[in-house]
Amino acid sequence: MSKSVSPLFATGLLLASALVASTLIADASQSYGFGKVLPPNEAAKWSDDVRGDGKGLPPGHGSVKDGQTLYASQCASCHGDFGEGAGRYPALAGGNGTLKADRPVQTVGSYWPYAPTLYDYIRRAMPFPTPGTLTNDQTYALTAFVLNVNNIVPANADLDAAKLAAIKMPNRNGFIDVHLKPDTHAVACMKNCKPAPPQITSDLARTLGVTPSVTSDAAHLDIDESTAPAKTSAKSAKGDASSMDALSNAAPAGKAGTVVAPAAPAATVTFAQIAPIVAQRCATCHAAKPTQAGFTSALMGIRLDTPEKIHSLASQIKTQAVSSHQMPIGNVTKMTDKERALLGQWIAAGAPTP
Ligand code: HEC
Ligand code: HEC
Repeated sequence: MSKSVSPLFATGLLLASALVASTLIADASQSYGFGKVLPPNEAAKWSDDVRGDGKGLPPGHGSVKDGQTLYASQCASCHGDFGEGAGRYPALAGGNGTLKADRPVQTVGSYWPYAPTLYDYIRRAMPFPTPGTLTNDQTYALTAFVLNVNNIVPANADLDAAKLAAIKMPNRNGFIDVHLKPDTHAVACMKNCKPAPPQITSDLARTLGVTPSVTSDAAHLDIDESTAPAKTSAKSAKGDASSMDALSNAAPAGKAGTVVAPAAPAATVTFAQIAPIVAQRCATCHAAKPTQAGFTSALMGIRLDTPEKIHSLASQIKTQAVSSHQMPIGNVTKMTDKERALLGQWIAAGAPTP
């Protein structure tokens, strides 16, 4: 629901726009050489807005009865005989009690907070094809009729400025004018601000295959984008295990797309080197009693909490955490590419255990 504008704020806006307008007018005559400065009495003719509290309502009056006649000839074709709306033109009545429903029906009767606004709107904007043609009395009469079909004033009502301003609309208290809490709490830094390089704290995009991982797994996979077929990188981005395995076993392509000799084989990685990695990055979920919040037993029965179990699951570990980034799921335990490479080397060395 939109917020109503407080009268104070509205006045401020008016003052501000009046200032801007007079500045523009003055500037136009001085700097652009066309137009003329409007004398105050002419400028006043444009200032016909009516406030929600009734300020700005002109003299005059009009009855529901007169309004009915005018409405039938000038409004009913679009808004229906009783304000129910015709075709795709809006209804002006009904909808009471629907504002909290799935499909609220917002009309003058169910939604508008102030009656004088109705006067302002009709005089300014209606009839749709010929706005500005209604006299003040006609506008009062039409306002009275629209309020009557909404059961807000009786059929014998005759409205003037004071009576219109005194009407309390049904949804008068349905608007708020307090500002909602800001949805961010950033504090602006004005001096001695640290340059803050963006820090990527989640690997999720890559795990989900949103970001191709053609260069990040440099330790075991280095595809030159200019030569690698697009299909392959798309596949590897999805973590397709078999193609990833095939690729990681192939000699990595060099910068210019030529095949270069693989780096000298790393010294054999021992179980002692990978144990803390598995404990920190995997066993939080894959243990008899996971420590990861929300998990109560080893996921899919996969336990990575003893050397034997880790050894026997080596090929699955490779599929899930080395050749692809499927695990750790969402990388919630923040496994690094270096750690993945190390695990890969340990598995390549036959997954030795103590
Ligand atoms: C040719 C069709 C047409 C005619 C005739 C017409 N209107 Fe409208 N009226 C509209 C349309 C279209 C809108 C919606 C305008 C918009 O949202 O910008 C509207 C909106 C309104 C609204 C605001 C409804 C709301 O809740 O937002 C009122 C009140 C209204 N008209 C009153 C009148 C009155 C009184 C007359 C006769 C003097 C009249 N209209 C004649 C088409 C018409
Ligand atoms: C935050 C909890 C969590 C962490 C940490 C985690 N996993 Fe998993 N793991 C899961 C969940 C959940 C599943 C079930 C996934 C599914 O159903 O697709 C799973 C499934 C698996 C599977 C079986 C996959 C299959 O489809 O057969 C393996 C193997 C595995 N994880 C290995 C690992 C390894 C290795 C690590 C550490 C690098 C790890 N996981 C870290 C939650 C985790």
